[in-house]
Amino acid sequence: MHQPVISGTGVFTPSEVITNDELVVAFNAYADKFNIEHAAAITAGEMAEMAYSSSEFIVAASGIHQRYVIDKSGILDPDIMYPTLRQRQDEEPGVMAEMAVDACNKALVQAGKTAADIDAVIVAASNLERAYPAVAIEVQELLGISGFGFDMNVACSSATFGIQAASDMVRSGSARAILVVNPEICSGHLEWRDRDCHFIFGDVCTATLVERKQDTSGGHFEVVSTKCLTKFSNNIRNNNGFLRRSRPDGVKDRRDMQFMQNGRKVFKEVLPIVSNHILSHLAEAGYSADQLKRLWLHQANKAMNDFIGKKVLGRVPEAGEQPNILQDYANTSSAGSIIAFSQYSEDIGDGELGLICSFGAGYSVGSVLLKRAL
Ligand code: COA
Repeated sequence: MHQPVISGTGVFTPSEVITNDELVVAFNAYADKFNIEHAAAITAGEMAEMAYSSSEFIVAASGIHQRYVIDKSGILDPDIMYPTLRQRQDEEPGVMAEMAVDACNKALVQAGKTAADIDAVIVAASNLERAYPAVAIEVQELLGISGFGFDMNVACSSATFGIQAASDMVRSGSARAILVVNPEICSGHLEWRDRDCHFIFGDVCTATLVERKQDTSGGHFEVVSTKCLTKFSNNIRNNNGFLRRSRPDGVKDRRDMQFMQNGRKVFKEVLPIVSNHILSHLAEAGYSADQLKRLWLHQANKAMNDFIGKKVLGRVPEAGEQPNILQDYANTSSAGSIIAFSQYSEDIGDGELGLICSFGAGYSVGSVLLKRAL
């Protein structure tokens, strides 16, 4: 049995930013257009007028100030309202593979490793660019890695579930080192014309290098233990898929082909599941919450994270104990907690503990308990 560790992380951040104000201007222009187009039905009371969005609401409801995206112009054009990405030729790298290579190279540099040291690539994300060949195998090829790759999807918990899979493989000896990669093009499955959720998501890609402790040469985080949980719920759902596409009923225009959520229910139902999950994970590992130096939580909503931190620690978390990045990145699905970990882990001292926790559609919750080793 080998001790798995995280020895490197990398974040690819798209170059284009949309602020709340820019987003709201585009949405409100779309709402004006919609209301003019449907003026007769609205006047006849057959259809509701589309209400304006507001930056104040977005910040108050979510804590989000801006988001990074792959294509800003399509999203902000009231006649389009989705990212317009150039269709790649089969011979070219896919969009996700390109993002993944950037994030993986950063993780490799941080760990002081090359492709020759890696045995596997797991691409774990909420929505994959295609069904097959696996994006992971394309990333493996682009990086020149021997061994194997596969894709997996546990929505917002894809990264932590991927880290559990990688840690178990390292522990058992089936792979020496594994890159767990989370390319999230959330802008492609968000309905930017829906006022209730148009502000929620952004794009990013994260990579985490999980390897054997004996192969590391620098500081790292030991994976003390992992814990995963799923419980079926329809409250966050995206019905897009190959079966739906083949239906002759105009499915492309169906609202449920994009991200759907009952946000209030999610808020209420997921909070106790997550707090209890973290506390039971710590107890099973023989630790208590007051031994945690840091919580790197899923980045969906500031109020949600404030609540979880308070419930787990039994007090209001101090500044820096539970860092948020959602104000800059918005919700980036599985990548959010890994961005927080990547940006806020340097100062953790030798032997100190921290916990990554993701949660979301499924429902799913995944936690990774880490101990710093310098
Ligand atoms: N601008 C202005 N007003 C808006 C608005 C917008 N963009 N969107 C909604 N509103 C209005 C609503 O119409 C509603 O008005 P009403 O009270 O007159 O009916 C009011 O603001 C409250 O809307 P609601 O949707 O209930 O807001 P909320 O406070 O519950 O916040 C979420 C919405 C989505 C931010 C919140 O529910 C949430 O974060 N849920 C969990 C999300 C999550 O973690 N999902 C996981 C995804 S992976």
